[in-house]
Parts: sequence; C-alpha cells; structure tokens
Amino acid sequence: MKEITLHLNGEVRRIAVAPHETLLEVLRERLGITTPKSGCGRGDCGACTVLLEGKAVRSCLILAIETDGQRVTTLEGIGEDGPTALQQEFVKRNAFQCGFCASGIVLAASALLKENPQPNEGEIREALAGNLCRCTGYEPIVAAVRAVARRNAGKKRVAKRARS
Ligand code: FES
Ligand code: FES
Repeated sequence: MKEITLHLNGEVRRIAVAPHETLLEVLRERLGITTPKSGCGRGDCGACTVLLEGKAVRSCLILAIETDGQRVTTLEGIGEDGPTALQQEFVKRNAFQCGFCASGIVLAASALLKENPQPNEGEIREALAGNLCRCTGYEPIVAAVRAVARRNAGKKRVAKRARS
C-alpha cells in the first residue's frame, strides 16, 4: 500500500492504495463517491468518466496510485452554487432517463465547454463519442450541450458590445 493525496472536489483526501486499485475503485469503494459508475470496466462505455486536472478521463483505466497529487473532480464537485447551466439544460430537455451514463456525459461535456465554449454539433458528438447511452438516443444530450454553447455565444456578444 502507498499513501496518495488527492485533491478531490476541492478537498484534500489522503488514502493508502494498493498498486492494482483503479481510481474508480478507490472513489466508489473507499471514498464513497458514487456518481462515477462502473459499466464495462475496460474503457468502452464512459460511465466512469471523471475530470483529472480538468481533462475527462476513464477512471476504470487509471491506477489510483498514478493520480497522487492531482485534481480529481466528479459530479459531486460541480454545481456547488446550484445546478450548472449544462445540468439545467439536461433536466429541461430530459437528456437522461435511467441516469447511468449521465455523470460521465455531464463531465465530458463540461470539459469540452471549458476548452471550447461554443462547440458545433460535430465537435459535441466527437467529444461524447466515447460515452454510451442506452436510453436517450443522444439527441436531447446533444441539444442540451448546444443550448449551453448558444448561451455562451450570447454572453460573448454582450461582452463585446459592452467593450465597444
Ligand atoms: Fe470505465 Fe466503462 S466503466 S469506460
Ligand atoms: Fe440510461 Fe443514458 S440515460 S444510459
């Protein structure tokens, strides 16, 4: 066992991990963080997606020991001041049903919007291609992300007008 330090959802957490334990196992079974789901366990479904240093990663493929000292964000760590614009759009558009994929998709889409605040439909579909959903058919998910991209474009126009 080796002690690692995680900056998990804004809190410093120290925990001893075995060399073979994945980040997903440590989050769910040792730290009680249950929004990352265990779907396939081999990198195919995206249900276990978390943000590692702000990048969307599959926590079933990463050893916890490799994440020592890094920033890990799960769904529990976003929307502290209430649901984010993206979460609001997901709810408004019924972009999840059983919810198994939702945490991973919201985090993957959040990472995309941070890097590219106004993604087009192709960019959204590409960014979410590794996150499988068996229920929604993807249309409401893409529509929710596009709605946030439009909101961001509106904010940018307002800021530009205010500066001119
Ligand atoms: Fe990690 Fe499916 S559980 S990708
Ligand atoms: Fe059920 Fe996506 S809402 S898997």
